[in-house]
Amino acid sequence: MKDASANAEGKRAAGLAAAALVENGQWVGLGTGSTAAFAISELGRRVQEEGLQIQCVATSLQSRNLALESGLRVMPLDRVARIDLSIDGADEIDPQLNLIKGGGAAHTIEKLVHSMADRFIVVADPSKLSPRLGDRFAVPVEALPSACAFVIRRLEQLGAAEIKLRHGSGKDGPVITDNGNLVLDARFQIEDPLQLERSIKSIPGVVESGIFAARKPRSGDCLIGEEGGVRQLQSV
Ligand code: 5RP
Repeated sequence: MKDASANAEGKRAAGLAAAALVENGQWVGLGTGSTAAFAISELGRRVQEEGLQIQCVATSLQSRNLALESGLRVMPLDRVARIDLSIDGADEIDPQLNLIKGGGAAHTIEKLVHSMADRFIVVADPSKLSPRLGDRFAVPVEALPSACAFVIRRLEQLGAAEIKLRHGSGKDGPVITDNGNLVLDARFQIEDPLQLERSIKSIPGVVESGIFAARKPRSGDCLIGEEGGVRQLQSV
């Protein structure tokens, strides 16, 4: 589990509420991070105790390992063309339900999996809500290692105020993603999330950004775990 903070109860409530939406026979996409982990563990419990029959795909090594430990069937992503429902956390959520993701550096596969899904459920605690995307979190950009200097220059041209190569803990040097790439965390004042997502994606050498504006949850599909229950966030 990534953290055991005061927000853990909200994360747990949201994760359990999302897991309760899963139905027999479905293909399920499993997100990454501490909130998604609550949903994965709960799905494992439902499989063991309720006989729920599902097949899953994972968005990271971390979620794959947790899913297998929880007793879930995990299929390789390259064998799957569509998913019924996917569940994931977020780092920042704006009032239109645009997201910043990638705190766990898993946003490339997360975006792929959630784009394959008919329904994308986001689970979070209230600390993730923000009046404007980018106010609280830098945009993670996965880039080919050989492209990093060029990508930094292009991100600056797009208006990034500060760009940091993400470093790991428990390892000297930069974070290497599950895809073998680097992550640049770029601070932006974001006026138009969809336009910025497209602009970053068009930079040669960029694999994917953590802006989820083209693929975001539908109104009501963002579950916020709060004191007293789980709120379905409506897009404004
Ligand atoms: C991983 C992600 C996570 O979903 C995001 O960082 C939220 O994590 P947590 O639920 O631990 O707060 O995007 O790449």
